[in-house]
Amino acid sequence: MSVIRIQGVRSLEGEIGIQGSKNAVLPVMAASLLHNGTIVIKNVPQIQDVFCMMEILEALGCECQLKQHELLIDTRRLRESQVPVRLGKQMRSSIMLLGPLLGRFHKAKTCYPGGCVIGRRPIDLHLLALRQLGADIDCEGEQITVRADKLQGTDLRLSFPSVGATENALMAAAAAKGVTRIYGAAREPEIEVLCRFLEAMGVRIDGIGGSLLTVHGGERLQDVEFRVPGDRIVAGTYLGALMVAGGELCLLGAPTDHMAGTLTALRQAGCLCKLYPDRIYARMKERPQPMDLSTGPYPEFPTDLQSVMLAVASVAQGRSRIRETVFEERFATAGELKKMGADISVEEGTAYVTGGYPLAGGEVCAADLRGGAALVTAGLASEGESRIHGYFHISRGYEDICRDLSAVGAAISLKED
Ligand code: UD1
Repeated sequence: MSVIRIQGVRSLEGEIGIQGSKNAVLPVMAASLLHNGTIVIKNVPQIQDVFCMMEILEALGCECQLKQHELLIDTRRLRESQVPVRLGKQMRSSIMLLGPLLGRFHKAKTCYPGGCVIGRRPIDLHLLALRQLGADIDCEGEQITVRADKLQGTDLRLSFPSVGATENALMAAAAAKGVTRIYGAAREPEIEVLCRFLEAMGVRIDGIGGSLLTVHGGERLQDVEFRVPGDRIVAGTYLGALMVAGGELCLLGAPTDHMAGTLTALRQAGCLCKLYPDRIYARMKERPQPMDLSTGPYPEFPTDLQSVMLAVASVAQGRSRIRETVFEERFATAGELKKMGADISVEEGTAYVTGGYPLAGGEVCAADLRGGAALVTAGLASEGESRIHGYFHISRGYEDICRDLSAVGAAISLKED
């Protein structure tokens, strides 16, 4: 088993190239299935979730070739509409295949998806959207079967701006005849990326970036080359690392436009940021100021950075309050951070964190992807050695967190135990 080892309390200095966005590339890969032809996606991160999605697409009959960060998907021999259970269970995004498979084959089968254990993760909104577009849905045990002789454009209303449900609805609507209006759509940047990808394939979409999306479906699609943006969560993670370690970083390829909510919070906590369209220069001179943060749907502070902010708050100069409103059980990392010396108490969806510096480090285990990144962040602010287990969670979303942080001065390495 792999273990990350960190000797903390060293400042960071230098440049990190920010990998392409995980949450943008996965739905784009899924949406490729709508087309019968070839798709080239650029800036694809080499992460486990991408490898898993490639494996699923290949099991369905596609040919996938990933060279460096360019992925070619040839969907001309797509023949299967059933996602293998073993792979579907490995990640949450497998549910995203229902919409495009339904569009291509009029039927699709998958299992309840896997992914991070960060609270209740129902799929009722996904299924409701597909049903309203004309699908019959049959849930038996762990299996979900959807069928639709004809997908028909309609008015959809999402009761919560779910990212995944909006993506599934968009993809099914692209294949449906006529116009679909999605009211209450999520506004996360990854939705905009998916819309731009669908547009490039030939789907007309009005209202991109807003909460009402109008999709003109049923058009013939074309081959495309498409580039996904940098990963805003990875960029935010490395800003968090800088905030606990101090120093100066340039994050090349950070999607500044998508990070307003994050940057406002980090600046309030003392991070000095200079923004350019494709990079962020950031400097941290003192320990972070205490924070009063609440996560929420975009453009609010992203839930995916909440765990990292717990680590930042753990070394702040005072008491912080961090409220989680999206995934209620996403405070599992607090327990591990406490083992590293953090002072955190959680009450009804809110974490109260009293900062102290340095942390003690120790032996901890990542329970989910972003939680793992938070433990690494805490390790950078720990006096003793930190040993972080559960690397496979981290590798689902970070290409090589040890490479990136050691390049800017952290004493961090991945060892086989
Ligand atoms: C996506 C991201 C994830 C991020 C989350 C919120 C991907 C691969 N994952 O996850 O990293 O943390 O957005 O920004 O892009 N909900 C329902 N019913 C549904 C669907 C969701 O009640 O059918 C609820 C969930 O329980 C949760 C909330 O809606 O409380 C947000 O979930 P959602 O926006 O769907 O997140 P994901 O698409 O799963």
